[in-house]
Amino acid sequence: MTSVSPAKPADAETRGSIACVGLGMTLGSHLSPLSRSYIQQADVVFAALSDAIVEVWLEHMHPDVRSLQPYYGDGKNKSRAVTYREWVEVMMDEIRAGKRVCAVFYGHPGIFAWSPHEVIKVARAEGFQAHMEPGISAEDCLYADLGIDPGRLGCQHYEAGQLLFYDTPINPSACLVLWQVGLVGDRSMARFSTGPEYRQVLVDVLSRDYPLDHEVIIYRGATLPIEQPRIRHVTLRDLPAVDVSAEETVVLQPASPLRPNHAVRKRLAALDQAMASAS
Ligand SMILES: C[S@@+](CC[C@H](N)C(=O)[O-])C[C@H]1O[C@@H](n2cnc3c(N)ncnc32)[C@H](O)[C@@H]1O
Repeated sequence: MTSVSPAKPADAETRGSIACVGLGMTLGSHLSPLSRSYIQQADVVFAALSDAIVEVWLEHMHPDVRSLQPYYGDGKNKSRAVTYREWVEVMMDEIRAGKRVCAVFYGHPGIFAWSPHEVIKVARAEGFQAHMEPGISAEDCLYADLGIDPGRLGCQHYEAGQLLFYDTPINPSACLVLWQVGLVGDRSMARFSTGPEYRQVLVDVLSRDYPLDHEVIIYRGATLPIEQPRIRHVTLRDLPAVDVSAEETVVLQPASPLRPNHAVRKRLAALDQAMASAS
């Protein structure tokens, strides 16, 4: 996506600012004290949240919460690229008007989210204060709920479409996390889901690195405190036949063992020996 162009730089007097904060995934339990205080002290709060209930909860924290949801345009073939650009512009309008803006996104505002990064870039280029406060993302929740430590064997994250649109090397010795599988293969950026035929293309691409009977985990973290995470296990072969919602993330555990790098190990052993004889 190309950048929104900055307007002319603000003078030093301008007090407009923006903080992009993450609300976390689960209503009420993931918001950091710092993010809460940015929300409460803002003049205007914009919200791009997972759920209308979460929006209502946010409205208890601030009298002027403006939902960004209506910009999606009711599925009228509007590209999300246009929507996200509009989000940046509507936030910038308030910053330029000298307001302290807080933009609240579900999860982490900087993970698989274009507008928060973009608005911060544009605001800074115009001389305004702008920063991001991290939040608990779907990624954090899946490590906890699925018992995965990304440091054990490594972990790669991709927007699922990237594997289809680009020649993307996958490391099957590490964990693979695929985002937005529910709309994989959508080139229009206007659809919110694609069907089994599109997931079949994904399976065909993945089958170059994984056997068709490899286990695939379809994960949905809890967004309400009364919910439990939903964790489904299917084989790679069966992925097209299973509905994957916009709120699910797909995980493939490693399919092959780590391969020792004998040449580098040998070099390190020689180095250890050289160090030992020098001391
Ligand atoms: C546009 S990204 C936003 C991610 C968000 N910023 C975060 O920090 O988690 C949307 C993708 O996040 C993942 N996602 C959203 N809600 C989820 C949930 N409740 N459980 C698991 N994954 C989720 C899915 O892969 C979905 O396609």
